[in-house]
Amino acid sequence: MEKNKRVFTFLLLLVFFHGAIMMRSNGYEFEEEQQGGGEGEGRERGWFMMKESKQVFKSEGGEMRVVISPRGKIIEKPMHIGFLTMEPKTLFVPQYLDSSILIFIRQGEATLGVICKDEFGEKSLKGGDIYWIPAGSAFYLLNTGRGQRLHVIISIDPSQSLGLETYQPFYIGGGQSSVLAGFDPDTLTSALNITRPEVQQMIKSQFRGPIVHIRKEEAPTMWTEFLGWRGEEKHKHLKKLLEMKQGFSQYQDYNNPWWSWRNIVKSMLDLTQEKNKHSKCEDSYNIYDRKSDYSNDYGWSKALDYDAYEPLKYSGVGVYLVNLTAGSMMAPHMNPTATEYGIVLAGSGEIQVVYPNGTSAMNTRVSVGDVFWIPRYFAFCQIASRSSPFEFVGFTTSAHKNRPQFLVGSNSLLKSLNLTSLAMAFGVDEATMREFVESQKEAVILPTATAAPPE
Ligand SMILES: *[C@@H]1O[C@H](CO)[C@@H](O)[C@H](O)[C@H]1NC(C)=O
Ligand SMILES: *[C@@H]1O[C@H](CO)[C@@H](O)[C@H](O)[C@H]1NC(C)=O
Ligand SMILES: *[C@@H]1O[C@H](CO)[C@@H](O)[C@H](O)[C@H]1NC(C)=O
Ligand SMILES: *[C@@H]1O[C@H](CO)[C@@H](O)[C@H](O)[C@H]1NC(C)=O
Repeated sequence: MEKNKRVFTFLLLLVFFHGAIMMRSNGYEFEEEQQGGGEGEGRERGWFMMKESKQVFKSEGGEMRVVISPRGKIIEKPMHIGFLTMEPKTLFVPQYLDSSILIFIRQGEATLGVICKDEFGEKSLKGGDIYWIPAGSAFYLLNTGRGQRLHVIISIDPSQSLGLETYQPFYIGGGQSSVLAGFDPDTLTSALNITRPEVQQMIKSQFRGPIVHIRKEEAPTMWTEFLGWRGEEKHKHLKKLLEMKQGFSQYQDYNNPWWSWRNIVKSMLDLTQEKNKHSKCEDSYNIYDRKSDYSNDYGWSKALDYDAYEPLKYSGVGVYLVNLTAGSMMAPHMNPTATEYGIVLAGSGEIQVVYPNGTSAMNTRVSVGDVFWIPRYFAFCQIASRSSPFEFVGFTTSAHKNRPQFLVGSNSLLKSLNLTSLAMAFGVDEATMREFVESQKEAVILPTATAAPPE
């Protein structure tokens, strides 16, 4: 038994260090696609940086930028990363998407209105909160922070998407871009049981973009009405929207805008009537409040899987947050089960990634807002610059407990292997091997004053 185990671990190690052979037979398809744009050295340095980004919209009240997932065989689960910014007192209008999203409130306060399991719920969100919204679920987001911008980082899972470049939003209200606007006016008139001029008012109102101001002092808009901030009159108008004709019953499935719209409006009214209504919607989870899964003098890390936040089970995404003190390093490690997408939140540092054949794949300086990705099995490390702490958040493509395998440090996987075999594999004597494996007394997060980039 013991011998078999030794042989097995030894083989594992061999496979890892010589994984090149395996990986090659799979073909690095992504290389070709990634290489398309780049030139020479720059291409090599930025291999695991996600640089291709697209401004999805910019409107009066804010904007959204999406960093596009790398493509190719090596990506077992692509993921776009969205950056949403909303000005104070703005509303991200009701919509549903063709992609499931996991939102992370980076900064600010918000109210999220969302339909889940046939119910409408409103959630107050603050910095550090995580919330999962499945594809096809209608939602809206209101910036409630006083005089504060709202920053949201969003992981977008395109696996159910219509295959467009980023994602496809379907705006429920809001003028000509509304999915309602495409219906024949007569259809709307009878479906909503409202007059033609009312339909005109609802649909032909000027589309001011997906994020709109909702200042009370300004002329009322359909959104101030929608939010129920103005008197009885508006309620009556909204109520009319509810009075739909039976003819639309065939559309009453989960993904239908009519269904969603009706539920939102209905629930808005319900909410104003009975305040503390129980809702079936999941609570959010605050990752800032979570106690560290690992911490020492050089920093901490937190990882969220579905044991901590159940909706992650359905999302198939895990979340982690790391804070390295200035000059510290997340020890070289690899993820055996998940691809990792990371976003730099604060400070600056360096990301090093190694090919399975042991050559450097990337060694790049990163700063706030940069997005990187690490395929599973690839060894990598993050190093904080010497001048400030380095903070990053990440999404992993598995909601199961991600068990990173450390290659260096007191919990290194090398330490659990037979030293004799290891020395043979490295072609050194045992004393040298022991020195190599056992000198580092710290684990996971290491002090690295000399390796750290200066600023
Ligand atoms: C349409 O609205 C009118 C009042 O405006 C109401 O009397 C009528 O019952 C409504 N019809 C349906 C089908 O809801
Ligand atoms: C990260 O650690 C630094 C100190 O090293 C601290 O000032 C900062 O607030 C931490 N960030 C978070 C989000 O806790
Ligand atoms: C290692 O693998 C990478 C990626 O396939 C390749 O570009 C590089 O040339 C390889 N290096 C060696 C020394 O085989
Ligand atoms: C390691 O393997 C060698 C030979 O394969 C064996 O003699 C030695 O006892 C093993 N050491 C440990 C600590 O298991």
